[in-house]
Amino acid sequence: MQIKSRIRTIAHYPHEGIMFRDITTLLKDPVGLRATIQEIAGRHKNTKIDKVAGIESRGFIIGAPVAYELAVGFVPVRKKGKLPAETCGRDYQLEYGADRIEIHVDAIQKGDRVLLVDDLIATGGTAEAAAALIREMGAEVVECCFVIDLPDIGGRSRLENQGLKVFALCEFE
Ligand code: PRP
Ligand code: ADE
Ligand code: MG
Repeated sequence: MQIKSRIRTIAHYPHEGIMFRDITTLLKDPVGLRATIQEIAGRHKNTKIDKVAGIESRGFIIGAPVAYELAVGFVPVRKKGKLPAETCGRDYQLEYGADRIEIHVDAIQKGDRVLLVDDLIATGGTAEAAAALIREMGAEVVECCFVIDLPDIGGRSRLENQGLKVFALCEFE
């Protein structure tokens, strides 16, 4: 349990009733950080991967070192209005309200094999939108990798119903 035991839970953040799974305690720990990156990158060391895409913002912290470890490029999937060049984007629903993610149109080429990385999957709405965007660009999503899955919320099944492979290092009820 090098990873799960290093994740802190804050009750009732940011709203009453939410158990917030806080990865900062994992990230600040040299053993925890290294194990996290090596476990995600390690399972793909013999996979053909062209790019790692990380979802703003916590997905950047995990995705960039995974890309470095796999010796491939990193593509930021950003919240709306943050990328300076031409983008394509996708709107998605949050638990309350809506948001939009965007990628530079020249960040991913047709036929690229992309590893999608984020810190956590809850409803799966964010990752589903990112995967759909990558597929729209003609690339293949090899796997969606997370540090944490919250299986009771159902995000994994939602992604699997789209034909996506899902991997998470640990689960919290
Ligand atoms: C959190 C988390 C995932 C997403 C998961 O990000 O980091 O990206 O929510 O939720 P979902 O599976 O229900 O879509 P958040 O949008 O809170 O922003 P942050 O990464 O910038 O903290
Ligand atoms: N994003 C969505 N749900 C979350 C949770 N329970 N903990 C941390 N980040 C989250
Ligand atoms: Mg996030």
